[in-house]
Amino acid sequence: MRAGQPSQTARGAAALRAIHQTLEGGVIFRDPYAARILDDETRAGLDAMAADASLRPLRLLIAARSRFSEGALAACVARGVRQVVILGAGLDTFSLRNPHAGLGVRVFEVDYPATQDWKRERLAQAGLAVPDTLTFAPIDFERQGLADGLAAAGFHADRPAFFQWLGVVPYLSHDAISQTLHFIAGVPESEVVFDYGEPFESYAEERRANVMAVAERAAARGEPWLSQFDPAEMSDLLHEAGFAVIEDLGMAALSERFYGALKKHARIGPGAHVVRAER
Ligand SMILES: C[S@@+](CC[C@H](N)C(=O)[O-])C[C@H]1O[C@@H](n2cnc3c(N)ncnc32)[C@H](O)[C@@H]1O
Repeated sequence: MRAGQPSQTARGAAALRAIHQTLEGGVIFRDPYAARILDDETRAGLDAMAADASLRPLRLLIAARSRFSEGALAACVARGVRQVVILGAGLDTFSLRNPHAGLGVRVFEVDYPATQDWKRERLAQAGLAVPDTLTFAPIDFERQGLADGLAAAGFHADRPAFFQWLGVVPYLSHDAISQTLHFIAGVPESEVVFDYGEPFESYAEERRANVMAVAERAAARGEPWLSQFDPAEMSDLLHEAGFAVIEDLGMAALSERFYGALKKHARIGPGAHVVRAER
């Protein structure tokens, strides 16, 4: 992250969710606020991004990870969880759509302080009111523990919680990832959904250049990829942090479950993973 600057990759992810609504009709993940929350400059670039076929695999993955996460979140609410923490929220709009608000489900959005300030501006400029059920917690994962920042926001670490952590792990150091996982595993009946990528050398040769180009674009915006994991390494990390149930979906499983007719565009093989882990 560039000191004092909002995340540029958060803009990119939000733009791809918006394009998914128009180009693919939101078939994997429907988000009526995806375009509305964007800044004018990003909105002006949507057509060019939509025309770039090389962005399609990432766009579908971003839609699928949100679909998977919000499904897991709903299952947690059904078993009584009433706290949701969105880590590295960027322009995620779950808090605006929260279908469980009537049940008293509170949402805590954690993000790099400059990204969070920018999101608040985006909400204000788009005329989107901050819901009563949403609390912001500005935290830099590399410098602060989650415990204090979340406690200050009114989070109860002794009560069950669901954590969504999408598009963030690649940008963090191993230490920050491990500390965050340990904190989550210390919350009773906690569950987390996050995504990670395998090392470049694990990718099939024909896909490696494409994914390295995505990483290079992120690095050029001041957000280099710091962490990649083999699935076995991730499994060890999660067990060591205290998680017992681990569901790790690779590209084949994700496309089978969520892509429907878009499955033909999926890039199967080593690459991105979406994980659900329970204590
Ligand atoms: C690729 S964006 C993903 C945003 C959102 N989760 C989504 O899927 O659209 C990465 C997010 O991680 C956050 N982030 C990166 N490094 C961080 C750090 N050290 N502390 C807190 N947040 C961080 C950025 O501010 C940004 O919101």
